[in-house]
Amino acid sequence: MDISASILSVKEEEAIHTFYRLELAHIDYFHIDVMDGKFVKNNTAEIMKIYSDNLKNITNIPLDVHLMVQDVKRYVDIFSSNEPKCITFHLEAAKGKQEVLDLINYIKQYSKVGISIKPNTNVEDVYEYLPLIHNVLVMTVEPGKGGQALIPETIEKIKTLKKYIEENNLDTEIEADGGIGLDNIKELKEAGIDIAVVGTTLINAKDYKYTVNKLREG
Ligand code: DX5
Ligand code: ZN
Repeated sequence: MDISASILSVKEEEAIHTFYRLELAHIDYFHIDVMDGKFVKNNTAEIMKIYSDNLKNITNIPLDVHLMVQDVKRYVDIFSSNEPKCITFHLEAAKGKQEVLDLINYIKQYSKVGISIKPNTNVEDVYEYLPLIHNVLVMTVEPGKGGQALIPETIEKIKTLKKYIEENNLDTEIEADGGIGLDNIKELKEAGIDIAVVGTTLINAKDYKYTVNKLREG
């Protein structure tokens, strides 16, 4: 299972040092949480762009960009220059099927594409797009801030999604995001996730390498 480290809670004055420590801990991705102050009330776009620019000069570990924004194309244009490995937008930010398909194709010009669904969005709503996208980012907390507790009902959603992917011979990956730690990573792995986004648990840990290894074991 891959570990994607959310840098949302990284302290700006310690950012470079923290990024180096995360690289030494062999995380698989840096998870870039972009918030526009409209889709969610916080606005992190400016600092996440600074961090993304820094990271491209520091490390080869790929960027996993999570757009919690209304105007998806605007932020794809801003972050595409950082050559992310994947750009994920929220299904709830699109006004209908045609716009979802349009955004999938727009992102594919630059990177792999993911669709994220909030805790209250039905997992069935993403089924028709699965053959077209690289991963589904299942929010295990309400998007908008770090340090929240995982919502237990979202684990059932992951199991349902995994079953559908297997029954339909799809290779779409499942990424879970929010409130993930050593207390619930095993259950998430058994539910079928391929990538775990970990923020607070990792950033606040004393030993990054130990924590990443424990998380990866599940
Ligand atoms: C929340 C973000 C998550 C969050 C993860 O809106 O999408 O990536 O930062 O952080 P923790 O692990 O602290 O929930
Ligand atoms: Zn995220």
